[in-house]
Amino acid sequence: MPQEDPPPDTPEECIDRTENSWVSENSSGCGEMKCFVTAVTLECWGHKVPELAVVQCHSLCLPGREATPARTINRTVSDSGTLQLPQQPWQGEPIHSSYYNPFHNFTDAPYSSQSFSHSQQVFHPSGGAPGYGGGGYGFSAQHPPPAAYRHNQLPAPSHDFRFPNFIENSLGAFERPSYGNPFGGRPFYGVQPPPEQGCPTKNYGPCQKSKYRTIDGSCNNLRNPAQGTPNTKYNRLLPPRYSDGIHLPPVSVTGNKLPGARLVSIVLFPDKPIPDPVWTLSSMQWGQIITHDMSMAMGTTQTKPYANQCCSADGRLTLPSDRAPGQCFAIEIPDDDPLYSKFGQHCMNFIRSTTDVDRGCAPPHAQPHEQMVTVTHYLDASLVYGSDDQTAAALREGARGRLKVDVRGGRQWPPPATNKSATCATQDDDEPCYRFGDVRANQNPQLTVLQIILLREHNRLADNLYHLNPHWDDERLYQEARKILIAEYQHINYAEWLPIFIGTNNMVKYGLLYKTDDYVNDYREDVEPNVLNDHATAAFRYFHSAIQGQIHLIGEQRKPFGALRLSDFFNRPGVIEDGDNMDSLTRGLATQNQEEVDPFLTSEITDYLFRNGMPFGRDLRAIDIQRGRDHGLSSYNDYRQFCGLPKAHSFQDFGDYISPENIEKIALLYASPDDVDLVVGGSLEKHIKDTLTGPTFLCIMLEQFYRTRVSDRFFYETGNPHIGFTPEQLREVRKSTVSRLFCDNGDHIQYMQPEGFRVIGEKNPLLPCDAIPAIDLRYWKEEAHYGNDFPAFDHYFKK
Ligand code: HEM
Repeated sequence: MPQEDPPPDTPEECIDRTENSWVSENSSGCGEMKCFVTAVTLECWGHKVPELAVVQCHSLCLPGREATPARTINRTVSDSGTLQLPQQPWQGEPIHSSYYNPFHNFTDAPYSSQSFSHSQQVFHPSGGAPGYGGGGYGFSAQHPPPAAYRHNQLPAPSHDFRFPNFIENSLGAFERPSYGNPFGGRPFYGVQPPPEQGCPTKNYGPCQKSKYRTIDGSCNNLRNPAQGTPNTKYNRLLPPRYSDGIHLPPVSVTGNKLPGARLVSIVLFPDKPIPDPVWTLSSMQWGQIITHDMSMAMGTTQTKPYANQCCSADGRLTLPSDRAPGQCFAIEIPDDDPLYSKFGQHCMNFIRSTTDVDRGCAPPHAQPHEQMVTVTHYLDASLVYGSDDQTAAALREGARGRLKVDVRGGRQWPPPATNKSATCATQDDDEPCYRFGDVRANQNPQLTVLQIILLREHNRLADNLYHLNPHWDDERLYQEARKILIAEYQHINYAEWLPIFIGTNNMVKYGLLYKTDDYVNDYREDVEPNVLNDHATAAFRYFHSAIQGQIHLIGEQRKPFGALRLSDFFNRPGVIEDGDNMDSLTRGLATQNQEEVDPFLTSEITDYLFRNGMPFGRDLRAIDIQRGRDHGLSSYNDYRQFCGLPKAHSFQDFGDYISPENIEKIALLYASPDDVDLVVGGSLEKHIKDTLTGPTFLCIMLEQFYRTRVSDRFFYETGNPHIGFTPEQLREVRKSTVSRLFCDNGDHIQYMQPEGFRVIGEKNPLLPCDAIPAIDLRYWKEEAHYGNDFPAFDHYFKK
C-alpha cells in the first residue's frame, strides 16, 4: 500500500535550513551600518517553511562619533515567506553603546575588521601590565589598578588572545568547528529563538540628587547611571575561551571533548562529611545571601526544573540536536554512574544562560557572547527589596515605611508568592510559598529563615523610627529603614563574614577593610560594579562545599532534637512555620557546624538537588562545571597565571597547591593542564593561611569584593554628608552582628553567642541576648523637630 506523505508540520522529519547573511545599509555621518540577518527556515519533506527572521543592525562608529545610533530590529517573516525588511529601520530605541562596542573603554581603534592582540592595547588589572581585554574590566587605562593587585607586577599572559575578527569570522570565511557540545546539543545560533525581551534600552539619566539609593541601582554611578543595574552583563577578568571564539563551549586543546562534568564531579568531589571545626552553618548560609544579592545569571532557573528539555522524558537519551531546544547543553551521565545508572539515567538537563546576543544587544558573530545578570550588582539587599521598582512597590505595605507581612500565630511571615506553582515545590495547597525581593528565596529552609530575619529587621527598624519620628511619612520611614538595613548588612559582610572566608589581613592589605572609627572615603567612580563572571560562575561557588546535608533543629539549651534532610525541603519553606521551627532553625544556623570547605560535597546536592520526591535529583557540582563551560570561562591554568602563580606545563606543576592524589585524578580525566576547568582546579587548592580558600579563588574574590565596595557611592562608611551617616550613627551601625539580627528577629530567641558565624566556645560563650551589642536608634531621632540632643544629626539632615 502506498505510504501517504506525512503532514508538513510533523516536526520529526524537518531539517534546519537556517541561513545567515550580512546586509549593508548606509547610515548618515559615519559610513556603513551592518545588518546581520538570521533567517530561520525548516525544510520539511522537501518544502522550505520560513519561520522567523532576526535582523540586527549595528553602526560601526565609536560612541561619541556616531551620527546614527545602532538599532536592533526583529522582524518576522510574512505569510508569503518573504523577509519583510523594515521600511524605516532606525526608528527603534538606541542601544546603549557599551552593549555592543567592545572597545569603548580602552582604545581609539575603529570597530572594524582589524585583528589585534589585546595584550598590546588593554590595561591589565593586575598591576599595570598590559593584558587581556574583552568587554570592560572596570578600569580604564587612565586609572590605577585595583588595590588587590597593586603589589603584584604580574607578567602579561603569554597566550595571545585574539578577539574574533568581526568580518573575517563572519559567515562564509569563518570556519565553524563541528559543534563543541560533546553531549548532543546543537549550535547556539542559527536555530536561536527570538531574543527574550530585546536589548534593554532604559535611559537612566539625568540623575536626581537623592540621599537614598535607587531600587535598581541606577544613578549610583553618576557618570554612567546604568552601571550595576539589572539585566546588564557580567564583567570578566579574563576573556572567554569559547571553542569558536564566539559562543561554542570550550573543547580540549587536543580538539577532543572535555571530560563529562558529571564524571569530573564523581571522581574529584565525592561526599565525605567533615564538619568545619570553627564556623557555623550560618556562615555558609550568609554566603548564599551575599550571592543572591549580587547576581543571578539570566535564563537559568535555580528553583524549578526548566521548561525546556534537552533529554528524553525518561532521562535515558540526550535529544538529538535537531530536536532539542537551541540553548541545550545537556550533561552526559556515564553508563556506570554510581547513582543514576540504577535509574537508567544517561542525560541531565542543562540550559545555557542567556547572553547579550540572545537579548539582541550584540550581533551574533562580532564578539564573544556575554552572560547577563538579572539583579542589581551592588550589595544593596536587593534580595529584600527587589531589583526593580515594580517588585519593590509590591513588597511595601504602604504605611509607616513597612514591608508587607502576613501575621499568623502572632508572628510575621512574608506575603505569599504570586505564582506558587512556578516558585515552589509545595505538595498541598496549604503549604506556604513566599514572595521576597529575590525569586530564589524559597530554595532551602535556612536561606528562607535568613530572608525572613532580614524582612523582620526592616519592619523592626521602621517601627522604631516611626516611634522616634512620628512626623515622617511612609516614604521617609521606608527609605531610612532601608538605608540602615543595608548598612547593617554591609557591615556584617565586610567586617564579620568576609574576614572568615578571605582573611582579615588580606582585606586590610588590599583596601577592603579599614580599622578605623572614622569615615572611609574610598569611592571610585572609575570602577565598575558589575559582578565578575569568573567570581560568580567559579570562585564563589567553591563554598557549595560548606553546605550540610542534614539541617539540625536546636533548642534553647543548644541540644539538637531533630534534623531535616535538605533534599526533602528544596523549595518547600512551609516547615519553618511548624511549631517552634523558626527559632529552632535559627538556633541551628548559629550552632550546627558548616561542612568543612574542601573538595568534598554532600550528596544532598551532588545527587539529590531539587529531587522533589524522586529517588534522584541533579548534581550541583556537575552543573557548576558545565556552567563554567557554558560561560566560556578560561582555564584554571590561565587564572593561575593571572593571579601570579606559575603557569603549569605538566600536571605535576599543579603540585604547589593541589595534592598528588588529586593531580593523579586530574591527569586521568583531562588531556592537558590547559584543559582543567577553573571551578575544578580552584576547588582542589590548599587554603591560604587564615582563609577558607586557595590562592586562585582568593585572588578573584579579593578583586570582586574590592570592586563591589569602592564602586558603591552609597557604601555605608562614606563620609559624604549628603548620603552618609553622622559619626554617631556610623558608630552604632558598626555594632551590627549576625547574632544581634538573630536575637532581634527570631520569634523568642533568648540566648546567642556574640559571634554567630563562629561555634559556641569558651571565647564565644552563649549569652543572654541583652548582652549582645545593639544599635541605638535614638541617634536617628530628628532633632530639628524635637530639640537638639544630637547636634551632629541635626547638621546632617539640615543639608
Ligand atoms: C543549600 C545551599 C545552596 C544551594 C542549594 C545552592 C544551589 C545553587 C544553584 C542550583 C545554583 C544555580 C546553578 C546553575 O544553574 O548554574 C547556584 C548558583 C550559585 N551559587 Fe549556590 N547554592 C547554595 C549555597 C551557596 C553558597 C553558600 C554560596 C557561596 C557562598 C553559593 C554561591 C553560588 C553562586 C556564586 C552561584 C551563581 C550565581 C549567579 O547566577 O551568578 N551558593 N547555587
